[in-house]
Amino acid sequence: MLIKRAPDVTPSEITDEKVYRARRRFLQFSAAGLILGPNLLVGGAAAADKLGPLKKGPYATDEKLTPYRDVTNYNNFYEFGSDKKDPAANAKNFRTRPWTVTIDGAVKRPAAYQLEDFIKPYALEERIYRLRCVEAWSMVIPWVGFSLAEVIKKVEPTSQAKYVEFTTLLDPTQMPGQRPLLGTGLDWPYVEGLRLDEAMHPLTILAVGLYGEVLPNQNGAPLRLVVPWKYGFKSIKSIVRIRFVEKQPVTAWMQANPSEYGFYSNVNPQVDHPRWSQAYERRIGEGSLLAQLTNKRKTLPFNGYAEQVAHLYAGMDLRKYF
Ligand code: MTE
Repeated sequence: MLIKRAPDVTPSEITDEKVYRARRRFLQFSAAGLILGPNLLVGGAAAADKLGPLKKGPYATDEKLTPYRDVTNYNNFYEFGSDKKDPAANAKNFRTRPWTVTIDGAVKRPAAYQLEDFIKPYALEERIYRLRCVEAWSMVIPWVGFSLAEVIKKVEPTSQAKYVEFTTLLDPTQMPGQRPLLGTGLDWPYVEGLRLDEAMHPLTILAVGLYGEVLPNQNGAPLRLVVPWKYGFKSIKSIVRIRFVEKQPVTAWMQANPSEYGFYSNVNPQVDHPRWSQAYERRIGEGSLLAQLTNKRKTLPFNGYAEQVAHLYAGMDLRKYF
């Protein structure tokens, strides 16, 4: 992990790092089986929100982590409002239990699981990934999750399964953004999709936590997708359904504005979005907005994961398949 020089470090970041290291010690302790049983996942009281035991997952970036406060207060989750602070304010009472995850479509073993049963077979890992939003900002987040490929192998897709479609909960009583009058231009429920080989890629995870704790509601509790080489909007939150299909799914953003949002949405500094350049990005949490804009960094092809994923798109024109 890169350590910043003292003058650049804000007090909140210092606290975050300290608390995080303490949590890591706690988790290492628990990894030895001393505190928590396998994959314990409990919400509620603060002391019980820890996740463990955690393996250290592959592909971790050693960049400085984005402070917890920024990761949990600068969110896109339109079901709870379109301002960055809305999800933290409006998702506080979102009920994430009981929670059913349905797996269906072209699979030999379709099933509807209670969340705890769905997660139980998988070893939780810490995955430190960059997240790059199409709005030209980025973060580094220590997710807690497990490989989506493990789930896919277990449910045995049939030969018809070419794509995987993910759906967020539809519940306007809890999600004010889904009510017609507060419309955001999106058709609900939020839908995303991946090609089967993208979904099977070892970088792709289902996340249940971050910073060693259960996912905060605003970050997509209780279960979200994380696909680090694609723009953040592909990482769908609060998933209730995973469906295996033959035809390419129509995603929520494609449906809303097909000329601005394609199916692939791979991070690509060479293909600008009509409203945001994709060549550079500011890193959330690194000082004031002005400081972030002054110290913008170059956006990397596939968000820096080209070595791992570029082969998936060999021969494809990535300007056409944006
Ligand atoms: N999932 C749902 N259901 N609804 C959303 O509005 N926003 C997406 C994605 N997943 C969104 C969603 C966008 S635009 C981004 S950038 C990421 O969530 C942000 O994730 P974060 O708030 O954890 O950083």
